[in-house]
Amino acid sequence: MRAVAVTAPLGEPMLVELPKPDPEMGEVRVRIEYAALNPYDWQRADDPAAGLSPQGFPHVQGFPHVQGFPHVVGVDFAGRVDMVGRGPSRFRVGDPVFGRVAHPSPGGGAYAEYVSVHQDSPIALVPSGLSLKVAAALPTAGTAACQILAALGAGEGDCLLIVGAAGGIGSYLTQLASARGVRVLAAVRGDERRRMSILGAARTLDVSAGPESLPAAVRESHPHGVDALADLVSEAPEAFAAHTALVRDGGVALTTRGAGAKAGNRALHTGPPPVDFRLAPSALLLDALAAAVTSGAFVVPIDFELPLEKAPEALAQNRAGGARGKTVFVLRPGAGHHTG
Ligand SMILES: NC(=O)c1ccc[n+]([C@@H]2O[C@H](COP(=O)([O-])OP(=O)(O)OC[C@H]3O[C@@H](n4cnc5c(N)ncnc54)[C@H](OP(=O)(O)O)[C@@H]3O)[C@@H](O)[C@H]2O)c1
Repeated sequence: MRAVAVTAPLGEPMLVELPKPDPEMGEVRVRIEYAALNPYDWQRADDPAAGLSPQGFPHVQGFPHVQGFPHVVGVDFAGRVDMVGRGPSRFRVGDPVFGRVAHPSPGGGAYAEYVSVHQDSPIALVPSGLSLKVAAALPTAGTAACQILAALGAGEGDCLLIVGAAGGIGSYLTQLASARGVRVLAAVRGDERRRMSILGAARTLDVSAGPESLPAAVRESHPHGVDALADLVSEAPEAFAAHTALVRDGGVALTTRGAGAKAGNRALHTGPPPVDFRLAPSALLLDALAAAVTSGAFVVPIDFELPLEKAPEALAQNRAGGARGKTVFVLRPGAGHHTG
């Protein structure tokens, strides 16, 4: 099968030929039609602790838990069950499914023509009326947006500042929050006013002039601070702490980049205690997301639909920045859309 994988510790993701992964007991094998890009896909390859990057190479020698090679990139997918492993299963051959690969194993990521996943992992049936393309774009960013909104506890009349609002999570979070009556301040780079206001943002702040442009713009409309912050971009604890300082006393500040503990450790915080968000995907939440899309409660902005062979380029592009909405890869050209 065709797949995009990191094949060696010094390697970049590349298109390779691999054997199809046979489903083990309790697993199903899915013939993937679409996979979606998430920053996690390249972040994992860059993470020394994952043992996939040049820096991580020494870890491969000493730690048995470390990922081997080839490491097939990607976690989000949609396709059809093509084989069911031994044991009872909640799926049948031919079922349209979407989901998130919990722990990619050799030969088992989403940027491939086939993946084998445990039936108890976050996978769900694609309901009638939802295309496999749209379903593939939901698992990571959609789950994150729902869980971030719950963690923030923001409701009617609250003001939520989203930094990095034009990307995957931000596009969903803006819609979910504004549907709940939350006033969204969308911090983006570039003139994205039209896009963000269609998604429901009350105000769009262009911060491409530099990090110092955001505090001034926020304080102008919210001198006492916003009620909640979802920082989807700041890796440096100093940058996250600067955004946290824009949250009012008693508000909530959340980061998806693990910057909270680091900022706390360095006593950089002047605002509320930071929340370090951790994704907890589940099949139930996937069902809820699919239902929300089919009912028209929110839209899935897919800005790029690319063939699998463009994935290495797209990963490099996402690492460099500039994501808008979601990017999906087509694994089976001409398979058509599942609509029920
Ligand atoms: N902790 C967890 O469990 C968890 C779960 C899911 C995702 N995440 C992480 O959350 C992050 C966001 O995910 P995503 O899927 O939304 O990523 P994405 O689709 O790549 O979007 C990121 C967005 O941030 C924008 N951006 C970057 N720097 C910015 C800045 N300084 N100011 C304003 N906007 C900026 C980017 O556009 P420009 O470059 O044009 O500005 C892009 O629109 C990723 O790092 C991901 O790995 C963490």
